[in-house]
Amino acid sequence: MRVSSAALIVAVIVAFSLVVVYQPAQAAGKTAVAEMKATAGNKVAGTVTFEQLSGKQVKVTAHLTGLKPGKHGFHVHEKGDCSAPDATSAGGHFNPTKKEHGEPSPMHHMGDLGNIEAGPDGMAHYETTVDFVEMEGPNSVVGKAVIVHADPDDLKSQPTGNAGGRQACGVIEAKK
Ligand code: CU
Ligand code: ZN
Repeated sequence: MRVSSAALIVAVIVAFSLVVVYQPAQAAGKTAVAEMKATAGNKVAGTVTFEQLSGKQVKVTAHLTGLKPGKHGFHVHEKGDCSAPDATSAGGHFNPTKKEHGEPSPMHHMGDLGNIEAGPDGMAHYETTVDFVEMEGPNSVVGKAVIVHADPDDLKSQPTGNAGGRQACGVIEAKK
């Protein structure tokens, strides 16, 4: 009796330790930020933040200035390279699951975040929570680039949404 009680206590302690130590793969609270830099001839600036919430939910928040009023295509692109003056170095839309271009929900390209809309003052605030953006593992958006386009994304033209030139580019960098 004594021995089995002791064994039970040990088992409970071990089980409890495993629960505490063994974090789920998608750790809530992980944050990554893209500091947006204007491409040649543009003056768009701002930040785009990705925050892992519980489960698969990722909150995307953007604050941008210097945009033409109206809608602008807003995507994660496949290469974290904003070095070209027109940001074509960032490649096409991030699409690890080989889907068509489209609206964010249901998921199309993993990088399809739809449009960001600027007011008359050229400022845009975007906030959405999605379940198709990943922040860890082989399909992580960390290390890729966010692009803001000159024109609206029509959410159907292949493979780009016909969103025009690239006005700003920022590499998504992990913060914690
Ligand atoms: Cu794009
Ligand atoms: Zn797309």
